[in-house]
Amino acid sequence: MNKNSMKDKRIGIIGAGPSGLAQIRAFEALKEQGYAMPEIICFEKQDNWGGMWNYSWRTGVGKYGEPLHGSMYKYLWSNGPKECLEFSDYSFDEHFKKPISSYPPRPVLFDYIQGRIKKSNARDYIRFDTTVRWVSFDENSKKFNVILDDLKIDKTYSEELDYLVVASGHFSTPNMPYFKGIENFPGTVMHAHDFRGADQFKDRNILLIGSSYSAEDIGVQCYKHGAKSVTLSYRSNPIGIEWPEGIKELPMVTHFEGDTAFFKDGTTEVYDAVIMCTGYQHKFPFLPDELRLKTKNNLFPDNLYKGILFNALPQLIYLGMQDQYYTFNMFDAQAWLARDFMMNRLTLPKETERRMDIDKWLDRNNKLENSLDNVDFQSDYIKDLLSLSDYPHFNVDKVAEMFKEWLQDKEENILTYRDKTYQSVVTGTMASQHHTEWMDELDDSKERYLYQGEQEEVLQDNL
Ligand SMILES: Cc1cc2nc3c(=O)[nH]c(=O)nc-3n(C[C@H](O)[C@H](O)[C@H](O)COP(=O)(O)OP(=O)(O)OC[C@H]3O[C@@H](n4cnc5c(N)ncnc54)[C@H](O)[C@@H]3O)c2cc1C
Ligand SMILES: NC(=O)c1ccc[n+]([C@@H]2O[C@H](COP(=O)([O-])OP(=O)(O)OC[C@H]3O[C@@H](n4cnc5c(N)ncnc54)[C@H](OP(=O)(O)O)[C@@H]3O)[C@@H](O)[C@H]2O)c1
Repeated sequence: MNKNSMKDKRIGIIGAGPSGLAQIRAFEALKEQGYAMPEIICFEKQDNWGGMWNYSWRTGVGKYGEPLHGSMYKYLWSNGPKECLEFSDYSFDEHFKKPISSYPPRPVLFDYIQGRIKKSNARDYIRFDTTVRWVSFDENSKKFNVILDDLKIDKTYSEELDYLVVASGHFSTPNMPYFKGIENFPGTVMHAHDFRGADQFKDRNILLIGSSYSAEDIGVQCYKHGAKSVTLSYRSNPIGIEWPEGIKELPMVTHFEGDTAFFKDGTTEVYDAVIMCTGYQHKFPFLPDELRLKTKNNLFPDNLYKGILFNALPQLIYLGMQDQYYTFNMFDAQAWLARDFMMNRLTLPKETERRMDIDKWLDRNNKLENSLDNVDFQSDYIKDLLSLSDYPHFNVDKVAEMFKEWLQDKEENILTYRDKTYQSVVTGTMASQHHTEWMDELDDSKERYLYQGEQEEVLQDNL
């Protein structure tokens, strides 16, 4: 293919989180091979990149009144081994220059994400403080018209684009169910999206509704930081592990009377706070009906060929819309393939054949029974993506094994699984043990994580 043929095309990316940054990095990798780049513009409503990993103390709305994107909180540590998400073109060794533990805190992963993208001039592609307000597609010109708000100067303008990559994330708009009587609950009621740290729940009795990652992690964080008691209330299935004293699971809440919660099994208990860990909605307020992905949180959203190309209009690309075992390396594998499609390096089959491929994945998705099946499913999906682009291959089977061990580790002891170490499939490096056990580590700063342990060791040696 002519390396200059895409020069006049314009590509828009919505969001500069890990998925949007993966898309920029994929183009940069091709540029390094001598290809002329199309024009790339990434629109990011926050004032920095990193998406979820760019922590904000704010809740509700941001500085300019936009719905606040971030759902992360203080003291958030990776909830899976970092070896399962490592970029295969930028290792942890390359970034940190020394082995680190398998479960770093948020600031350390944020630093890693930035390290790769800072190697290029990627920042030049990104318009920060810019919200995508509305998108339409012109059937005649075959171009997208995107209406944008420059939040800083309060100005609305538009851009014409040949391709549009939606990388706006899907763990930001709360799913907030109603329970009878909750309007009269006298204590704190919030969604996990607004949880910013366990400090305020010290010495409190808290009720978490939900039985997935947010409920599990916020429950354990609050326990670690001194909550008096933690109750998790499940709708379908309990997490079902052996919890330490102070954390327990009950079936679904039926209703509240004052500060008392009533549960399906007849139990009643008094609480100081209720946190809805009830998941998120895929929400694209900037997309019209016919372009909008409509899905629940699952491993293979319908209507996306190879999990990314909108089947009715492949010029519209969605990244990272799946429920996620794999994260950064999956976004990369998707972005490399999306790039090849946009650069005419990948020829698509006809729409009906693409539909059959989607159906094949959906059929299998519908038959998944447990977490082990889920890991195998997403691993096969990654392998499929890797077979179609030149994203540096990594040993997916080995990563799948690590995910399965991780599931086992959590079941064995939810308080110590983050002290385990794993081996990188990119460099072969074995993770180091963090200087402090996770349950005793109350400081999640990068400085303490990377250096303080070393300083303490030197002090000990000199005593
Ligand atoms: C509480 C929590 C903890 C998590 N912990 C982990 C973990 O430990 N390990 C892990 O691997 N993953 C974790 N995840 C998953 C996390 O979502 C992914 O790691 C990753 O951030 C997804 O990247 P993304 O780019 O697809 O979306 P996001 O990170 O959500 O980024 C989307 C970006 O799009 C921007 N945007 C949205 N709408 C617009 C608009 N209209 N205009 C302009 N810009 C817009 C947002 O501002 C944001 O910067 C966690 C998620 C949550 C919610
Ligand atoms: N690093 C970390 O430690 C960390 C911490 C938190 C979150 N995360 C990430 O954040 C993402 C989202 O996780 P999540 O747990 O927020 O969402 P989720 O995985 O989608 O789970 C949503 C939970 O809410 C329950 N639920 C939904 N609607 C309900 C209703 N109407 N009534 C009662 N229960 C309801 C669901 O129950 P059913 O099972 O019945 O559907 C499920 O248990 C994940 O990718 C996760 O990895 C990471």
